[in-house]
Amino acid sequence: MNSYNPVEIIRKKRDGHVLSSEEIVQFVSDYTKGNVPDYQAAALLMAIFFTGMSEGELLALTEAMLRSGEVIGLADVPGAKIDKHSTGGIGDKISLHLAPAVAACGVRVPMISGRGLGHTGGTLDKLESIPGFSTRLSVPEFRTVLRRAGLSLIGQTDTLVPADKALYALRDVTATVESIPLIAASIMSKKLAEGIDGLVLDVKVGTGAFMKTRDAAYQLASTLVSIGRRAGKQVTAFLTNMDQPLGRYVGNAAEVLESLHVLEGAGEPDLVELTVALGGEMLRLGGMAQTEEDGRARVAESLRNGEALGRLQRCAAMQGAMIDLRDPHEPWRQTCLHTNRVAIVAQSSGFVARMDAEAVGWAGVAIGAGRERKEDTIDPAAFIFLDRKVGERVEAGEALCHFAVAADWPEGRRERAKTLLESAYEISTEPPAQKPLILDVLK
Ligand code: URA
Repeated sequence: MNSYNPVEIIRKKRDGHVLSSEEIVQFVSDYTKGNVPDYQAAALLMAIFFTGMSEGELLALTEAMLRSGEVIGLADVPGAKIDKHSTGGIGDKISLHLAPAVAACGVRVPMISGRGLGHTGGTLDKLESIPGFSTRLSVPEFRTVLRRAGLSLIGQTDTLVPADKALYALRDVTATVESIPLIAASIMSKKLAEGIDGLVLDVKVGTGAFMKTRDAAYQLASTLVSIGRRAGKQVTAFLTNMDQPLGRYVGNAAEVLESLHVLEGAGEPDLVELTVALGGEMLRLGGMAQTEEDGRARVAESLRNGEALGRLQRCAAMQGAMIDLRDPHEPWRQTCLHTNRVAIVAQSSGFVARMDAEAVGWAGVAIGAGRERKEDTIDPAAFIFLDRKVGERVEAGEALCHFAVAADWPEGRRERAKTLLESAYEISTEPPAQKPLILDVLK
């Protein structure tokens, strides 16, 4: 039994008062232990969503989430340990190839990631589409993989930031994701649990991001940077454009395939540009490059020469993967996607002027690439392919994009995906002005 009434804490927050550190710690601890039910935690999340948090409350929440489990000490693992985290995007498979590319250049990457959140995808769901790949390692296993492969990719567990594991899943299905303090505490509790020396943040801004405006993204970026620096970490935040998905694919196995193309020295230009920029800064923070430019060149080389792919294979094999990711003829590559396709065609000729990336993300959820309810399982084989992206020409009747679902996928959800994708494209007769992918960097 609780020694206090959780309703009092919810009411206090709802009415705009400041919670004490003790109240926050107690609530988080009781929720994580199962002594506070989901409906009360959801009510508190909604109250925070609407009333925000003071700086003191945010630090207390981050600390309570961090301390809900084990904090990994990596002082005995040689070399700099630098991680990267994105605030959530569509088609954002960057971690899958960035982490091994940076590891191949000599900086260790201990990475605790999340699952899909709202309309955005999650690294864990993508990794788990690789047959056998386990993201649920014990801390000793995580350390071993990190030592031997130079990177390890895992998720929150019952012993590692369990509070984020529980709250993340609850926020996903209660429309409480797009809140600066909740995002900041979620990200930084995971990152501070990893034993890192430094962190590169990819703060997304645009139609597909949780932060729709530059002002909101700056606010989130400076909040994240300030929590990290207070904890003694080196932190750089990139503000990057999420007005359209990254790459061409949205969907779990499909994004792994697309990421493998980057690791084979090819890949979509936006994926390569962002990987090289974030990786260059990770190398600089880790002392393996004098300048970001030098770091960029080294990351690009590790993608070209196959060393990054080799690193990913080493990590995947140690984490249980049953296939060889280096083999272009691996049968899984031919069978991992649904073949049952539905095309969305252009009603008029012109240029793609704008995309509603969030609608593409929700279409991904409708086809089973994300979750509508906590207990939903992901369909790794479902995907959306973007035949056209912003600035590209299309003729009436040609495909703008298409999606693929299981043959027995419910008709209602298939229709919802279709409607969302039809509404996601805006066509104009003139080519639009192109926005840069990297909007700003906070160092
Ligand atoms: N990534 C996280 O880990 N948490 C959030 O809340 C959003 C993005």
